[in-house]
Amino acid sequence: MNNFIFQNPTRLIFGEGMIAQLANEIPVDKKIMVTFGGGSVKKNGIYEQVISALEGKDCIEYWGIESNPTIETLRKAIEVGKKEKVDFLLAVGGGSVIDGTKLIAAGLLYDGDAWDIVLKGEAQETIPMGTILTMPATGSEMNNGAVISKKESKEKYAFRSCYPTFSILDPTATYSLPPYQVACGIADTFVHVMEQYLTKTNESRMMDRWAEGILMMLTQIAPLIKENQQDYDLMSEFMLGATMGLNGFISMGVSQDWSTHMIGHELTALKEVTHGASLAIVFPGLLRTLVDKKKAKLIQYGERIWGITSGLPETRAQQAIDKTEDFFRSLGLQTRLSEVNIAEDTINEIERRFNEREVACGEDKDVTGIVVKEILLKCM
Ligand code: NZQ
Ligand code: ZN
Repeated sequence: MNNFIFQNPTRLIFGEGMIAQLANEIPVDKKIMVTFGGGSVKKNGIYEQVISALEGKDCIEYWGIESNPTIETLRKAIEVGKKEKVDFLLAVGGGSVIDGTKLIAAGLLYDGDAWDIVLKGEAQETIPMGTILTMPATGSEMNNGAVISKKESKEKYAFRSCYPTFSILDPTATYSLPPYQVACGIADTFVHVMEQYLTKTNESRMMDRWAEGILMMLTQIAPLIKENQQDYDLMSEFMLGATMGLNGFISMGVSQDWSTHMIGHELTALKEVTHGASLAIVFPGLLRTLVDKKKAKLIQYGERIWGITSGLPETRAQQAIDKTEDFFRSLGLQTRLSEVNIAEDTINEIERRFNEREVACGEDKDVTGIVVKEILLKCM
């Protein structure tokens, strides 16, 4: 195991009806800005529950944080927050609203343009925020990451901000999700776990088993959720699984990859591919490209998750990759660039960006521009 420091301060409040707990979680005398996305919460009853729980508090609302939240929108939110002297933020939505709010939390204490904070990669200081999660996927409700886009230049970068002080997870909030978003959320969660797992063997039995537990659970619930998205127990497991997949618990002391995310973010920035959908395309292509160096872990994964127990090592690794791609397809997602009309010009642009930024990612920092091109060609 490698050395690490672990601290996760977010208080998780889980279950049906728990939005009513909201008032107890926000200190008195705070000027609260409640942030929302495009309006899904007005159709599924979440908005009413939030407003009723906040009765008597000093609140303003900020609407319109879009999917893949943009700096252009968030600058306006920061301006409003500064004018209104907001000192507590409450994000109500999916990963995009939460991520956007993490930038607002930093921007309210920053004098310059908030895009500087994103480019710097880390916020110096933030005002406190809580979340009410409506879509399981990103883990943003219990981590300090956020990913912000710039429409003007088609860029998308992650940066470190604050952990939410609390997050309320009511699984019934997910009943209204469009099935496509559920599929993208499952794929995103699956790939989060794989970014922290599918690297090297023999680093930690415990981390391996925790990661495999989440992967196994996802493969079991995915077909059942397709049959019945209103099943409380299924959606509870999905929601908690997504949180556990990216809150630091499965990455203690082990290598991490994150190349699929780096490449996926470019597909979203350049071609507006939904985040989870971008990963379902890139990840199998990445595995096909890096099969030799990841072979031992692929064999372990294939055996423990997909029951592949015999055959030559090469065949077993290949079967594990095929099973992974089949799983994404079983969710109803596409797994090839050609299916989403992305051609070689985009691949060349992504390679150019990696080279220009001198990015080298992956567990051994060897996924450079040229490797990224190879990966994307294998996604065609
Ligand atoms: O905006 P509204 O109207 O709320 O609609 C949203 C949006 O259209 C809708 N939705 C959310 N909850 C719903 C619902 N519709 C019906 N019922 C509900 N209960 O779903 C759509 C997608 O929402 P969004 O928040 O964009 O999805 P997601 O949670 O997947 O977030 C994606 C963003 O998170 C970033 C991604 O890059 C992307 O920008 N990520 C953040 C991470 C982090 N902070 O740690 C890690 C991830 O890897 C990821 O990169
Ligand atoms: Zn992700």
